[in-house]
Amino acid sequence: MSAIWVDTDMGFDDLWALLLLRTHRIAVAGVSLVAGNAPLPQVEANASGAQEAYGLDMPVFSGADRPLKRTPETAARILSPLGMRSRGQTLAKPARPPVFPPAGPALEQWLRTPRRAPERVILALGPLTNIAHLLKSSPKAAARITRLVWMGGSDGPGNHSPRAEYNALADPEALDTVLNAQLPLDVVDLTQCRQHCFGPEDVPDTDPLSRDLLLGYLDIALERGRKAMAIYDPIAAAALIWPERFRFAPRAMNVSLCSDDSYGETSFAETPMSRTRLVSGGHGPLVRDCLAAFEGGPAHAH
Ligand code: RIB
Ligand code: CA
Repeated sequence: MSAIWVDTDMGFDDLWALLLLRTHRIAVAGVSLVAGNAPLPQVEANASGAQEAYGLDMPVFSGADRPLKRTPETAARILSPLGMRSRGQTLAKPARPPVFPPAGPALEQWLRTPRRAPERVILALGPLTNIAHLLKSSPKAAARITRLVWMGGSDGPGNHSPRAEYNALADPEALDTVLNAQLPLDVVDLTQCRQHCFGPEDVPDTDPLSRDLLLGYLDIALERGRKAMAIYDPIAAAALIWPERFRFAPRAMNVSLCSDDSYGETSFAETPMSRTRLVSGGHGPLVRDCLAAFEGGPAHAH
């Protein structure tokens, strides 16, 4: 596979997805940041801390600091103001606020640059604000995307509201823009991700920082009386790494923009043909395979 682009709001499971890609030698040409789990300055601090702690060496760019239209909605009440919980150690806070170049021109250039391999695959792990901006500012460049794999939406109940999944609810207008553009979109939704959960007994032997972050993420479920926590963004990365382990079914996808309790709710109607596909049926030991990203600890260069 040629190098992909990752668009992320840099929560813990976003970082986990990046580590999983590295474990499987999927090259990342660039990472664009977007406000989501936390406000953009914290997302940037997390990206900088992750670069330092895990030796992530891909170029990082800073994107949208707010959704297209709605008031910003972080996941701080679940993930803490850092956008990443921990049982102990956290990513190092940068001495100075990091300054990353703007994402828009970088993503556009990456899409436009001629290459031998025709694939231009984006893995999106947060609200779709950056992609919506690209569609508005450079529709021709956006038309070069050969595949957009997105963790978001739900073909069932929500997590951030009873009816909406967080990445959809954090910018429903951006999702609507992406759906209207009919990009080749593969949706790894909440219902699929909730089938892949890990409990305390699954936490691998790893370095203290990774262990504290994994346990902090797991605490989200344990504190709610559940025995195991769903894996979100790494499952979307898994659909890229092991497409043969998933089913991709065409769907007519819609997102509610109504200002009532359906705001951000997604629906997936069966249809014979669509450029939008709902990803399901992740087979094999996906939980174990995702957790393998932590084997060897932060200094492990894959
Ligand atoms: O609903 C799950 C999504 O929102 C994931 O992308 C995760 O990072 C979370 O904040
Ligand atoms: Ca995310």
